[in-house]
Amino acid sequence: MLEQIEKIRVEATEGIVKASSSAELEELRVKFLGRKAELTQILRGIAQLPPEERGPVGGAANKGRKELEALIARSAERLDAAELDAKLVADRVDVTMPGAPPRPVGHQHLITRTTRLIEDIMVGLGYEVAEGPEIEHDYYNFTALNHPVGHPARQLQDTFYVQSHPDVLLRTHTSPMQIRAMETQGPPIFIVIPGKVYRRDSDATHSPMFHQMEGLAIAEGLTLADLQGTLLAMSRALFGDTREVRLRPHYFPFTEPSVEVDVSCFQCEGTGVLADGGRCNLCKGQGWIEILGAGMVDPNVLGFVAEKGYDPERVQGFAFGLGIERVAMLRHSVPDLRRFFDNDVRMLEQFA
Ligand code: PHE
Repeated sequence: MLEQIEKIRVEATEGIVKASSSAELEELRVKFLGRKAELTQILRGIAQLPPEERGPVGGAANKGRKELEALIARSAERLDAAELDAKLVADRVDVTMPGAPPRPVGHQHLITRTTRLIEDIMVGLGYEVAEGPEIEHDYYNFTALNHPVGHPARQLQDTFYVQSHPDVLLRTHTSPMQIRAMETQGPPIFIVIPGKVYRRDSDATHSPMFHQMEGLAIAEGLTLADLQGTLLAMSRALFGDTREVRLRPHYFPFTEPSVEVDVSCFQCEGTGVLADGGRCNLCKGQGWIEILGAGMVDPNVLGFVAEKGYDPERVQGFAFGLGIERVAMLRHSVPDLRRFFDNDVRMLEQFA
């Protein structure tokens, strides 16, 4: 029995020392120390041996087992370290190799860029940016903006209604956010509201969905002159330092007085005539280009948010709404508004 143990010990030691991988080492561990291994069987059978053999055989078997265990542990350490080294060498990143070919990163849509530009200009004047829902209640889109039920001006806007909910519609302008903003915040308030609006309309200068930028300023003592000065600053930032603005009387239910605002043409410097003597095609010889609608906020509108502190006897203000596509078309000579939404990258890439 003792000889047998010694044979196992020598054979196992030889194998373990020669093992060249951790997988091979694991096989040897199972073979020599596993549940079915010879040495394990010997240890298990000690009780059946004649009493005088139990001590020496048990001692030798246990000693052999411990020795082999220690040897395996040392070999495992050595092999693991060697395997890790080999892997590190094999996986080494060659930092001198050329990188992956650059991928095109894309860019903002011209409408987004124009929106951000107008926001930046207005933030520079002290305004904050707010946004609101495109699916709107009749109340905010019309009623609270001084379009009583049955008012003919409701028919002026080609509204998309939600069929199953006659009080719900796609907002036809960003003006409903005037009311929503004033409901959440008392005066003074200086905000701009960019967003999508919807009307049943489609041609070279109209799309069923387009973008507006609303402006709202309410404080003590604001006048039409403040509106004109604000729009002059905005127009110069958008269209050039030498631009002028003019206000023409107009009608909106929620402003009184209401105006349409023109900016002096930046192609013919407001003369209506081009350098070659021909008529300016951009302003059609007028020298002025219409850019937006505006006016002083009607006291009736403030009446809908009176409990928030909008007392028309104490605060006044102005509002304006401009079409973002129109600004982009003018600034970049885009002839047809529908091109913005065709998703033709050849067109959009020009404005990267
Ligand atoms: N909401 C108006 C429109 O879409 C524009 C406007 C905004 C006019 C604010 C006056 C004041 O036509």
